[in-house]
Parts: sequence; structure tokens; C-alpha cells
Amino acid sequence: MTGNLSERDAKVIWHPFTQMKTAAPAIAIVSGEGAKLYDEMGNTYIDAIASWWMNLHGHAHPHISAALRKQAEVLEHVIFADFTHRPAVELAERLLSKLPPNQARVFYSDNGSTAVEVGLKMCFQYWFNIGQPKTKMIALEGAYHGDTFGAMSVGARSAFSAPFEAFLFEVLFVEAPVPGKENLALAQMQKMMAENPGQFAGFIFEPLVQGAGGMRMYEPEALDRMLEICVQNEVMIIADEVMTGFGRTGQMWASDYLTYKPDIFCLSKGLTGGTMAFGATTCTAAIFDAFWSDDKLKTLFHGHSCTGNPLACSVALASMDLMEKPETWANIRRIEKAHKEFSARLHGHHLVKNLRQTGVIIAFELETGSESSYFNGLRDMIWRFFLEKKLLLRPLGNTIYILPPYCITDDELSKVYEGIESLLSFLEMQ
Ligand SMILES: Cc1ncc(COP(=O)(O)O)c(C=O)c1O
Repeated sequence: MTGNLSERDAKVIWHPFTQMKTAAPAIAIVSGEGAKLYDEMGNTYIDAIASWWMNLHGHAHPHISAALRKQAEVLEHVIFADFTHRPAVELAERLLSKLPPNQARVFYSDNGSTAVEVGLKMCFQYWFNIGQPKTKMIALEGAYHGDTFGAMSVGARSAFSAPFEAFLFEVLFVEAPVPGKENLALAQMQKMMAENPGQFAGFIFEPLVQGAGGMRMYEPEALDRMLEICVQNEVMIIADEVMTGFGRTGQMWASDYLTYKPDIFCLSKGLTGGTMAFGATTCTAAIFDAFWSDDKLKTLFHGHSCTGNPLACSVALASMDLMEKPETWANIRRIEKAHKEFSARLHGHHLVKNLRQTGVIIAFELETGSESSYFNGLRDMIWRFFLEKKLLLRPLGNTIYILPPYCITDDELSKVYEGIESLLSFLEMQ
């Protein structure tokens, strides 16, 4: 093989969410440490978006890699039907001790999309098993829940799902209760319930922050009012905490801000501190009990070859150790505070629209004179600008956001803020 990694990659690899014809060569990362990533050309990048919102404690964290190494020397994998192992049991116990007390069981899978698929299946089959089948789901406009067919079905219809539209199941969408739309969202929910009595199996949402939809944020009170309607109408509550879980919103779970607790939680990304592909779906005892039967047909017929992988479970346990350290929470508070100060600096800037923050996530839309969208013409230019500044700050269309690993230093954060401010100055000069 000739050429550097980037050149060899261009001949053999098909990258995710990438128009391969027009994309620039992929940057080959050779190592990482803390919030820094190092490429094969000797460049250093600050990972300001935690590598697709995965990383919590920094790249190549010694505590996590030690746990991985230790487990790999003992047991790398074992079938998870009819077998179990220490890391899987311990992780389930530990997750349940952190989740709201109504959560009783943990089902493992491979990633965020599969965590959502399992949640949807648990929900639909719960109603099927108790003899009251319900076939409709409610979701939020602007939602993103993953790329498998079930997850796509409950995601907002968009260019991403257009080729598959005919294969997606029936979902009714209500507005997300973002500022200014709280009452509309509530009214839509009430109307839908009145028009489809007893037909909705569940309501799935990303609590407080819709990630891929553009870091759209909303208040827990607004969501609670919608959840109250769900409870009154026996609609199951499914929280997709794939992105918001593990401290991103300033609490362990975004659902910690809610009065009405979800029946089902979907977890991934931060579950392993962002180290490995892994997913978990948790549910209440009532849901689990609907599958508990002498009748084999009531089984949850779902599983993946890698379900409950011991390496992933061990890494998740190690990440949980770090999550429990006071330093981690001090870092979360430090980032929240720094973002607030940065917010004050950006406030009122004529190119900054809809500036918002929840926990360690700060976002705004760049004023481009056209409607905000993933395909906004400025997106590629913004991305290149940040790359030149050695910042991994990949915008969602014209939405610029920061979602850093908790270990990011003050100095690194300052560089990220300065990078954004220099983009604004650059655009002002155009
Ligand atoms: C809220 C949410 N749910 C589900 C997913 C899908 O996760 P994965 O990419 O691991 O399949 C994502 C991914 O970004 C997400 O943000």
C-alpha cells in the first residue's frame, strides 16, 4: 500500500453522512489525549464536540484503557443468551442505581439506534402482550433518533429519510416545545389524543436538547406538561438520552429535571465514556412483567451477536467510576460557567441568532440571511475555517455548537471560543 492513511482511505472507505465525491480527504488521527487529537501530519486538534458527542472524560483515558486491557485478558466476549458475566451484571446494577427508581431492568445492544429500536419494540410489544395492541407512536418535529428503520420512523422526516419514506411506520409528530412553541406543542398533543383515543403506544423524545436536529433546546416544564397528557392517556414515555445522558445537561440525566419520569430510557454514546459501540435500554418493572410469562410468544425477540459484550461493559463501568468523581462534576460546572461568560460576550452580536445553553452544550445559529438548515450554504466554509484553526467544531448546517469532553482545559475552551469569535469577525469583513 502506498500513500499516507488519508490517501489510502480515499481509495477504500465509504464514510458516514459524507458525499464522497465532494468531501475533502479524511483527516487521519493517530492518537488522542484529553480533549486533543493528533493527526498523521503532526497537527493537533481540540475536540470541541466530543467526537460526535461520545467522549466524556478525554481520549485514551488511562483508567478506561486499563479496564479494557484487563477485561480483554480475561474474557473478550460470550453469548449473552443463557450466559452472563460480572461486568454485565455490575453495570446493570450500577445504571439502575443512578436512574430514577422506577427503572428496573437493563437490555443491552450496540449503539444509540439499536437502543432506540429496543425501546420501541419494548413499547409496542408491551401493549401487544397485554392484549391491547396500539400501533401509533408520537414523536417531536426536529427529532433524530438514529438511522435504523424504527429509529428513522420516529425521527423528523428530512432529506436523510426521504429515500426510505415508504418503509417508515406511522408516527404522528408534534412541535417540540421550544421557546415560543410550548402552547402549540401542548395543544397539538391534546388534539392528537382526542382524535386517536387509545391508539398511541408511546411518546419518544430527546429530553431538553434535540441534538442532530440542530441543538434545539426546551424547558423541562414544557415537556412535563406534555408528559402529563401522556400519563392521563396511558401513553408510554420513552426518553432517548443517547446524547443527553451522563451529565451533558448538567445533571446525570436530562430526565432528572422532569417531574414525570420516563418508562423507558435509551442510552449509548457516553455510556462507555465514548470509547466503544454500546447501547442500553432500561424499563420499568411493569413493562418487564408484561413479557414475564410461561408463554414463549411473549418473549422480547431481540438481540445482537455482541449484546452485553464484556469489553464494552467493563469500559462502561470504568467510565461510571470517573462519572462518580467530584472532579468530573466540578468540570461540568466549570464548563457551564465558562459557556455563560462566553454567551455574554456573544450576546447581541448581529450574526448570532438564538443563542442558547443547557449544561455543557452551547449553540447558536449563524445569521446567513436564509433559513437555518443542515444544508445551509455556509456550512462547508465554516467547517473548513474551524479546521484551519485546528478545532474539531463540526457545525450542523449553520448551527454552531460546543459540546466538549469534561476534561477540556480552560485554555482549550478559550481557544474554541476565540475560534468562534474569529469566524464572526471574518464573516463581518466579507
Ligand atoms: C438522541 C440520539 N438518539 C440516537 C442516536 C443514534 O445513535 P447511533 O449513532 O449510535 O446509532 C443519536 C446519534 O447521534 C442521537 O443523538
